[in-house]
Amino acid sequence: MTDPDGSPDDRRDPGSSHEADCVPVPSAFEGRATPTDDDRDEFAVNWPAAWARAGDALEWERDYDAVLSTGDDGGPPFEWFAGGELNACANCVDRHLPERADAVALEWNGHIGESRTYTYRDLHREVNAVAAGLRDLGVDADDVVTTYLPAVPAVAVVMLACARLGAVHNVVFAGFSADALATRMERAGSRYLVTSDGYYRRGEAVDQRRRADNATMSLPYELDATVVVDRLGTNPDVSRDDRHAYDALVDAYDGERVAPVPRAATDPLFRIYTSGTTGEPKSVTHTTGGYLAQVAWSTRRVLDVTADAVVWSTADPGWITGHSYGVYGPLALGATTVLTEWSPDAVDPDRPWALVEDLGVEVLYTAPTVVRSFAKWGAEHPAGHDLSSLRVLGSVGEPFDAETWEWYYEHVGGGDCPVVDTWWQTETGAVLLSTLPGVDEARPGAVGGALAGVGASVRDASGEPTDPGQRGWLTIDRPWPAMARELATATDWGARVAAESGVGRDGDWWYRVGDEAFVDADGYVTVLGRADDVVNVDGRRFSTGEIEHALVEVAGVAEAAVIARDDPDSGNALVAYVTTADERTDVSTLREALGDAVAAAIGAGVRLDQVVFTPDLPKTRSGKIMRRLLEDIANGEGYGDTSALRNPEVVGELEARHQD
Ligand code: PRX
Repeated sequence: MTDPDGSPDDRRDPGSSHEADCVPVPSAFEGRATPTDDDRDEFAVNWPAAWARAGDALEWERDYDAVLSTGDDGGPPFEWFAGGELNACANCVDRHLPERADAVALEWNGHIGESRTYTYRDLHREVNAVAAGLRDLGVDADDVVTTYLPAVPAVAVVMLACARLGAVHNVVFAGFSADALATRMERAGSRYLVTSDGYYRRGEAVDQRRRADNATMSLPYELDATVVVDRLGTNPDVSRDDRHAYDALVDAYDGERVAPVPRAATDPLFRIYTSGTTGEPKSVTHTTGGYLAQVAWSTRRVLDVTADAVVWSTADPGWITGHSYGVYGPLALGATTVLTEWSPDAVDPDRPWALVEDLGVEVLYTAPTVVRSFAKWGAEHPAGHDLSSLRVLGSVGEPFDAETWEWYYEHVGGGDCPVVDTWWQTETGAVLLSTLPGVDEARPGAVGGALAGVGASVRDASGEPTDPGQRGWLTIDRPWPAMARELATATDWGARVAAESGVGRDGDWWYRVGDEAFVDADGYVTVLGRADDVVNVDGRRFSTGEIEHALVEVAGVAEAAVIARDDPDSGNALVAYVTTADERTDVSTLREALGDAVAAAIGAGVRLDQVVFTPDLPKTRSGKIMRRLLEDIANGEGYGDTSALRNPEVVGELEARHQD
């Protein structure tokens, strides 16, 4: 790992990683695949105009004037499908009614075994009722509606109802703390909240209402309305005028119709917060036209989803994957999406496979950390079920090692489902790098190349493309329709060379994504991981700065540095190095307080795997903490020259304390 403005770390030798064999398109899949590679030919000669292939798959209220418009110098601001008007909800729901009203849109499976099926007709009905209810509560176009809900159908319904009204949804993961919710609401200026009385986590009921109340009480303004879903059957108190029960709202407005509000292609569809390098949650805004077009396009091309497919994207709706491939992509195509309230790696090992069998899941999209849990539980679990409905297996979120890839391919896919390792980010909105099922051979351990219409390179610190096998920064070289608005409109890109996101220079535009990677001679990219202060743990993204911030707020703590250590199960485990203000501090009490502080600031799901108390942190002469050295110590690796340290004596001390 490196400083964001430094050059990629050249100590690890990519050539020493596995050299996995290529896996050709499974023969059983030949002829069943719907994607083709003629997009590549078309884009090669006709970029960006060929993106009309994605745009034209949507239904527009008003045709767009141009596929892509740019600033005068060909750089930002980028506008996709400018002049066009559409409604995302109409595209995901209404347009399927004539042909597919009785087809299943959403299959929900609850934590304690409940299930609920929504046809497109049912979804249309509930979305309209909620849209009518929200409208009467005052929600207007461009207002921000926050949800703080477990993975229940209401999340998808509220998202679509907002889209219908032209309001902007802001889905906050239910496991986040009250503080995290409050920050995400306040920064978005959100005056509406949809939450629940509680939810189930690993079999236990969790009180969500109190957290939501604590968050809203800490806001510097009053909310206009709060809607509460009764998830635990507690019949939550909504006696205040600004409180409303979700079910009562649906009943009261049942049968009402709300005309979908036409939105400009470049209007925001939603906001989502993710971790940036600054330690503050980073707001990402996705647009109505470009986002929806590329998400639908990639759901079709990369996950091979057609109108009658059953798709299970296991990510919680609180993350971008849940938005793009759990809600918008499958529904834009008229497919069936499966929403589970449970995480497939936190339940009875047979439950995921029983669900695949029962629902006839065709496309399973999950994260390497989940597959590693499956592998640990053993192949007998998938083997005990009829998984013949599966056609395509996908992965996202972190580097997918070849061994786990093979296990997924063999034991879940039975050797005849293509496995696509898809690379993308919250900021990119849609998959940008992947192989295509049925078209490309796979190289376990590598994600594949840029999709048709997308440009990607690996570059060195000076911006030059690296040679095959040489590590560098992964960059996206051309704008793409689902790019976050913050990237599309960042006209100060020249000034952002050293910043975490947009990077450009002298007429070129590219986006340095924050990952280190190398590319092989055939253009397959291997992503090595984040090269900035963002870490992926269990497929979730955190900023080490955000965690450090929570730690130094604890009384008695002087300084803290958080790094990610390699972990065979979760990919990364968090290690905190902490110095105390007073050497005599009782560290056992402090250890507990640190865990609590992180849970309060970010969420109960964030766990420090190890806390190492140390009299000092390794620092450069300019006073910067050497996180790279801490990583090496935590991983038990050699760390070479420490002469750049102001305090080299700390290294031996740290090694000794690490053993404690
Ligand atoms: O480091 C990369 C990793 O996840 C980061 C993006 O995280 P987030 O915005 O939370 O979105 C995750 C779901 C889209 C990337 O910068 N990442 C994502 N996909 C892969 C990956 N790392 C390796 N291989 C992937 N396929």
